[in-house]
Amino acid sequence: MPIIAPSILSADFLNLGRDIEMVNNSEADWFHLDVMDGRFVPNISYGMSIISQMKKAAKKTFDVHLMIVEPEKYFEEFKKAGADILTVHYEASTHLHRSLQAIKALGMKAGVSLNPHTPVSVLENIITEIDLVLIMSVNPGFGGQKFIPQALDKVRKVKQMINESGSKALIEVDGGVTLENVGELVAAGVDALVAGNTVFSSPDPVATIKKLKQAGK
Ligand code: DX5
Ligand code: ZN
Repeated sequence: MPIIAPSILSADFLNLGRDIEMVNNSEADWFHLDVMDGRFVPNISYGMSIISQMKKAAKKTFDVHLMIVEPEKYFEEFKKAGADILTVHYEASTHLHRSLQAIKALGMKAGVSLNPHTPVSVLENIITEIDLVLIMSVNPGFGGQKFIPQALDKVRKVKQMINESGSKALIEVDGGVTLENVGELVAAGVDALVAGNTVFSSPDPVATIKKLKQAGK
Protein backbone atom coordinates (compact mmCIF):
# COMPACT_ATOMS: atom_id res chain seq x y z
CA MET A 1 0.00 0.00 0.00
CA PRO A 2 1.33 3.48 -0.80
CA ILE A 3 2.58 5.89 1.83
CA ILE A 4 0.09 8.75 2.16
CA ALA A 5 1.43 12.21 2.99
CA PRO A 6 -1.30 14.85 3.48
CA SER A 7 0.01 18.31 2.59
CA ILE A 8 -0.53 20.73 5.45
CA LEU A 9 -0.45 23.64 2.99
CA SER A 10 -4.15 22.89 2.39
CA ALA A 11 -5.02 22.61 6.10
CA ASP A 12 -7.10 25.18 7.95
CA PHE A 13 -4.46 27.25 9.77
CA LEU A 14 -7.04 28.63 12.19
CA ASN A 15 -7.67 25.04 13.22
CA LEU A 16 -4.22 23.59 12.70
CA GLY A 17 -4.28 21.56 15.91
CA ARG A 18 -7.55 19.94 14.84
CA ASP A 19 -6.18 19.10 11.37
CA ILE A 20 -2.97 17.63 12.83
CA GLU A 21 -5.09 15.48 15.11
CA MET A 22 -7.14 14.33 12.11
CA VAL A 23 -3.93 13.17 10.36
CA ASN A 24 -2.71 11.52 13.58
CA ASN A 25 -5.94 9.52 13.78
CA SER A 26 -6.05 8.60 10.09
CA GLU A 27 -4.23 5.95 8.06
CA ALA A 28 -1.85 8.61 6.73
CA ASP A 29 1.85 7.86 7.17
CA TRP A 30 3.62 11.19 6.90
CA PHE A 31 2.96 14.93 7.24
CA HIS A 32 4.06 16.68 4.04
CA LEU A 33 5.31 20.18 4.90
CA ASP A 34 5.89 22.72 2.12
CA VAL A 35 8.38 25.50 2.78
CA MET A 36 8.31 28.33 0.21
CA ASP A 37 10.48 31.44 0.13
CA GLY A 38 8.95 33.69 -2.53
CA ARG A 39 12.14 33.34 -4.57
CA PHE A 40 12.42 29.74 -5.74
CA VAL A 41 8.63 29.72 -6.08
CA PRO A 42 6.18 32.62 -6.43
CA ASN A 43 4.60 32.06 -3.03
CA ILE A 44 5.56 32.20 0.66
CA SER A 45 4.28 29.58 3.10
CA TYR A 46 5.72 28.87 6.54
CA GLY A 47 9.07 27.96 8.07
CA MET A 48 10.81 26.29 10.97
CA SER A 49 8.94 28.04 13.77
CA ILE A 50 5.56 26.69 12.62
CA ILE A 51 7.11 23.27 11.95
CA SER A 52 8.60 23.02 15.44
CA GLN A 53 5.23 23.94 16.97
CA MET A 54 3.46 21.34 14.85
CA LYS A 55 6.01 18.74 15.94
CA LYS A 56 4.66 18.93 19.49
CA ALA A 57 1.25 17.66 18.37
CA ALA A 58 2.06 15.51 15.35
CA LYS A 59 2.72 11.80 15.78
CA LYS A 60 3.98 10.90 12.30
CA THR A 61 7.04 11.38 10.11
CA PHE A 62 7.77 14.94 8.99
CA ASP A 63 8.40 15.00 5.24
CA VAL A 64 9.72 18.53 4.65
CA HIS A 65 9.79 19.83 1.06
CA LEU A 66 12.05 22.86 0.69
CA MET A 67 11.08 25.11 -2.21
CA ILE A 68 13.73 27.67 -1.36
CA VAL A 69 17.00 28.96 -2.80
CA GLU A 70 20.22 28.11 -0.93
CA PRO A 71 18.47 25.37 1.10
CA GLU A 72 21.83 24.23 2.54
CA LYS A 73 21.87 27.30 4.80
CA TYR A 74 18.99 25.88 6.84
CA PHE A 75 19.51 22.11 7.12
CA GLU A 76 20.44 22.26 10.78
CA GLU A 77 17.48 24.46 11.66
CA PHE A 78 15.02 22.15 9.92
CA LYS A 79 16.54 19.21 11.76
CA LYS A 80 16.02 21.05 15.05
CA ALA A 81 12.44 21.92 14.05
CA GLY A 82 11.65 18.23 13.61
CA ALA A 83 12.25 17.25 9.98
CA ASP A 84 12.68 13.50 9.45
CA ILE A 85 12.96 13.65 5.66
CA LEU A 86 14.44 16.79 4.11
CA THR A 87 13.97 17.33 0.37
CA VAL A 88 15.78 19.94 -1.69
CA HIS A 89 15.12 20.89 -5.28
CA TYR A 90 17.63 19.79 -7.90
CA GLU A 91 17.14 23.19 -9.55
CA ALA A 92 18.15 25.02 -6.35
CA SER A 93 21.24 22.92 -5.59
CA THR A 94 24.57 23.71 -7.20
CA HIS A 95 26.33 21.15 -4.99
CA LEU A 96 23.66 18.50 -4.70
CA HIS A 97 26.00 15.69 -3.61
CA ARG A 98 27.34 17.81 -0.77
CA SER A 99 23.81 18.77 0.29
CA LEU A 100 22.65 15.16 0.43
CA GLN A 101 25.65 14.18 2.54
CA ALA A 102 25.00 17.11 4.90
CA ILE A 103 21.32 16.18 5.34
CA LYS A 104 22.20 12.55 6.10
CA ALA A 105 25.02 13.54 8.47
CA LEU A 106 22.39 15.41 10.52
CA GLY A 107 20.41 12.18 10.85
CA MET A 108 17.65 12.90 8.32
CA LYS A 109 16.64 11.07 5.14
CA ALA A 110 17.67 13.04 2.05
CA GLY A 111 15.26 13.79 -0.79
CA VAL A 112 15.65 15.43 -4.19
CA SER A 113 12.75 17.04 -6.01
CA LEU A 114 12.47 17.66 -9.75
CA ASN A 115 10.36 20.38 -11.34
CA PRO A 116 8.07 19.29 -14.20
CA HIS A 117 10.58 20.38 -16.88
CA THR A 118 13.62 18.66 -15.36
CA PRO A 119 14.41 15.26 -16.89
CA VAL A 120 14.99 12.38 -14.50
CA SER A 121 18.30 11.61 -16.23
CA VAL A 122 19.94 14.37 -14.14
CA LEU A 123 19.79 11.94 -11.20
CA GLU A 124 21.75 9.15 -12.93
CA ASN A 125 25.04 9.84 -11.17
CA ILE A 126 23.56 10.43 -7.74
CA ILE A 127 20.63 8.04 -7.45
CA THR A 128 22.39 5.70 -4.98
CA GLU A 129 22.85 8.63 -2.55
CA ILE A 130 19.15 9.56 -2.51
CA ASP A 131 16.54 8.30 -0.03
CA LEU A 132 13.55 9.94 -1.73
CA VAL A 133 12.91 11.18 -5.27
CA LEU A 134 10.09 13.73 -5.28
CA ILE A 135 8.55 14.12 -8.73
CA MET A 136 6.60 17.37 -9.02
CA SER A 137 3.41 16.80 -10.98
CA VAL A 138 2.50 20.52 -10.86
CA ASN A 139 4.68 23.62 -10.95
CA PRO A 140 5.62 24.10 -7.31
CA GLY A 141 4.17 27.00 -5.36
CA PHE A 142 0.48 26.32 -4.86
CA GLY A 143 -1.95 23.65 -3.78
CA GLY A 144 -5.01 22.67 -5.79
CA GLN A 145 -3.43 22.68 -9.27
CA LYS A 146 -4.06 20.24 -12.11
CA PHE A 147 -1.90 17.11 -12.44
CA ILE A 148 0.65 17.22 -15.30
CA PRO A 149 0.38 13.76 -16.93
CA GLN A 150 4.04 13.60 -18.08
CA ALA A 151 4.89 12.93 -14.44
CA LEU A 152 3.74 9.33 -14.94
CA ASP A 153 6.43 8.66 -17.49
CA LYS A 154 9.01 10.24 -15.20
CA VAL A 155 7.96 7.90 -12.40
CA ARG A 156 8.46 4.87 -14.67
CA LYS A 157 11.90 6.12 -15.70
CA VAL A 158 13.05 6.77 -12.11
CA LYS A 159 11.72 3.38 -11.08
CA GLN A 160 13.86 1.76 -13.76
CA MET A 161 16.90 3.80 -12.72
CA ILE A 162 16.40 2.75 -9.10
CA ASN A 163 16.05 -0.92 -10.01
CA GLU A 164 19.09 -0.92 -12.27
CA SER A 165 21.35 0.96 -9.82
CA GLY A 166 20.36 -0.90 -6.67
CA SER A 167 19.32 2.41 -5.06
CA LYS A 168 16.87 2.16 -2.18
CA ALA A 169 15.20 5.49 -2.97
CA LEU A 170 11.45 5.82 -2.60
CA ILE A 171 9.47 7.67 -5.27
CA GLU A 172 7.01 10.35 -4.14
CA VAL A 173 4.64 12.33 -6.36
CA ASP A 174 3.47 15.81 -5.40
CA GLY A 175 0.73 17.92 -6.97
CA GLY A 176 -2.74 17.27 -8.31
CA VAL A 177 -3.04 13.78 -6.81
CA THR A 178 -6.71 12.72 -6.78
CA LEU A 179 -8.75 9.58 -6.18
CA GLU A 180 -8.96 9.32 -9.99
CA ASN A 181 -5.23 9.25 -10.84
CA VAL A 182 -3.90 7.49 -7.76
CA GLY A 183 -4.31 3.96 -9.16
CA GLU A 184 -2.28 4.80 -12.25
CA LEU A 185 0.43 6.41 -10.12
CA VAL A 186 0.81 3.38 -7.89
CA ALA A 187 0.89 1.11 -10.95
CA ALA A 188 3.71 3.26 -12.40
CA GLY A 189 5.83 2.67 -9.29
CA VAL A 190 5.01 5.47 -6.86
CA ASP A 191 5.74 4.65 -3.20
CA ALA A 192 4.48 7.84 -1.56
CA LEU A 193 1.61 10.16 -2.51
CA VAL A 194 1.28 13.77 -1.41
CA ALA A 195 -2.31 14.99 -1.27
CA GLY A 196 -3.35 18.47 -0.20
CA ASN A 197 -6.58 19.60 -1.76
CA THR A 198 -7.90 16.04 -2.22
CA VAL A 199 -7.65 15.40 1.53
CA PHE A 200 -8.47 18.77 3.08
CA SER A 201 -11.30 19.79 0.73
CA SER A 202 -12.97 16.46 1.21
CA PRO A 203 -16.08 16.32 3.43
CA ASP A 204 -14.53 13.30 5.19
CA PRO A 205 -10.71 13.61 5.12
CA VAL A 206 -10.14 10.42 7.15
CA ALA A 207 -12.21 8.38 4.69
CA THR A 208 -10.45 10.02 1.73
CA ILE A 209 -7.04 9.12 3.20
CA LYS A 210 -8.26 5.54 3.58
CA LYS A 211 -9.35 5.47 -0.08
CA LEU A 212 -5.98 6.86 -1.24
CA LYS A 213 -4.24 4.23 0.85
CA GLN A 214 -6.20 1.45 -0.81
CA ALA A 215 -5.38 2.66 -4.30
CA GLY A 216 -3.91 0.11 -6.62
CA LYS A 217 -4.76 -2.82 -4.40
C1 DX5 B 1 3.00 22.49 -4.30
C2 DX5 B 1 3.33 21.72 -3.06
C3 DX5 B 1 2.40 20.59 -2.81
C4 DX5 B 1 0.95 21.00 -2.61
C5 DX5 B 1 0.12 19.89 -3.17
O1 DX5 B 1 4.03 23.36 -4.57
O2 DX5 B 1 4.64 21.17 -3.13
O3 DX5 B 1 2.84 19.77 -1.75
O4 DX5 B 1 0.60 21.24 -1.28
O5 DX5 B 1 -1.21 20.25 -3.14
P1 DX5 B 1 -2.32 19.51 -4.00
O6 DX5 B 1 -2.32 18.06 -3.56
O7 DX5 B 1 -3.56 20.25 -3.65
O8 DX5 B 1 -1.94 19.63 -5.45
ZN1 ZN C 1 5.24 19.59 -1.62
